[in-house]
Amino acid sequence: MSEPTILVTGGTGTTGSRVATGLRAAGVAARIASRKPLGADQIRFDWTEPATHAPALDGVDGVYLVPPIGLSAPAPIVEPFLAQAIRAGVRRVVLLGSSAITDETPGLGRLYSLVRGAAPEWAVLRPSWFMQNFVGGHPVAAGIRATGEIITATGDGRVAFVDADDIAAVAVRALLDPLPHNTDHLLTGPEALSYAQCAAIIAEETGRMVRHRPVGVAEFTKLVRESGVPADFAAFLAGLDDDIRRGAEDRVTAVVPDVTGRAAGSFRAFIARHRAELTESAALPAV
Ligand SMILES: NC(=O)c1ccc[n+]([C@@H]2O[C@H](COP(=O)([O-])OP(=O)(O)OC[C@H]3O[C@@H](n4cnc5c(N)ncnc54)[C@H](OP(=O)(O)O)[C@@H]3O)[C@@H](O)[C@H]2O)c1
Repeated sequence: MSEPTILVTGGTGTTGSRVATGLRAAGVAARIASRKPLGADQIRFDWTEPATHAPALDGVDGVYLVPPIGLSAPAPIVEPFLAQAIRAGVRRVVLLGSSAITDETPGLGRLYSLVRGAAPEWAVLRPSWFMQNFVGGHPVAAGIRATGEIITATGDGRVAFVDADDIAAVAVRALLDPLPHNTDHLLTGPEALSYAQCAAIIAEETGRMVRHRPVGVAEFTKLVRESGVPADFAAFLAGLDDDIRRGAEDRVTAVVPDVTGRAAGSFRAFIARHRAELTESAALPAV
């Protein structure tokens, strides 16, 4: 029997790139979907261009599915793609969802039942907030670099931030394990931390002044809108912060160790690994 081929949507992104690396390390062919493909292992794929879907799915056994980014109701785009995938012979679909999104979440929650209903074998990954938000292009990271401030509407609410390496490790198992998982996986890191605690850890590990500035939901919505995010999505993101403030993300699960056989990475270890990147910015005042 030939080795399976997995289509990795979002394959150039935070989790998808790690999933592709993990699949290859396991000896499995990963076909990376990208709007701007580079190299033989990448294929042009755009959620908004259905004509790109069939070639990406040709000869594929499984799909890592990162839904269209920034849409509050992506089901009308994802549903025909899923139907096409199953017709093309795909058996297993692993969906990237979010701990903050449940089946009841208007718009986005619909994706979970779509995948469960369409794919013969499936897993729904519901990771907590990514540690990678503190580095790279995410607004939290941009705030740290620009002013040494993390601005949220989360108050003292705590989040069990999870390392994208761990999300990808679970995704690879969900894609390749002989027995399909056919379940939702609520993925967290090993401890729940407030943004103030995160700021303190970053300051300790980097020697830089970093602090959390809590704001109200209305001010946060305004700030997100000013960064160019559409009004409905800005309101959605602010609502997620408010959920955190009320304790919705203050929980730790054992999914990462249970599925991968190793402990989930800690926030402090993550920051230590990214110390150079976090200290490079001249904008950050020394403590
Ligand atoms: N950040 C968090 O804390 C967090 C927590 C829980 C869940 N999540 C979920 O994670 C998801 C984001 O996943 P990620 O962080 O792995 O991805 P990401 O780093 O945001 O990358 C987005 C990917 O989507 C691709 N993409 C963008 N527009 C596209 C289009 N029109 N057609 C096809 N591909 C397109 C991009 O590929 P190209 O540019 O190469 O086309 C890129 O690979 C979101 O849905 C979010 O809900 C995030």
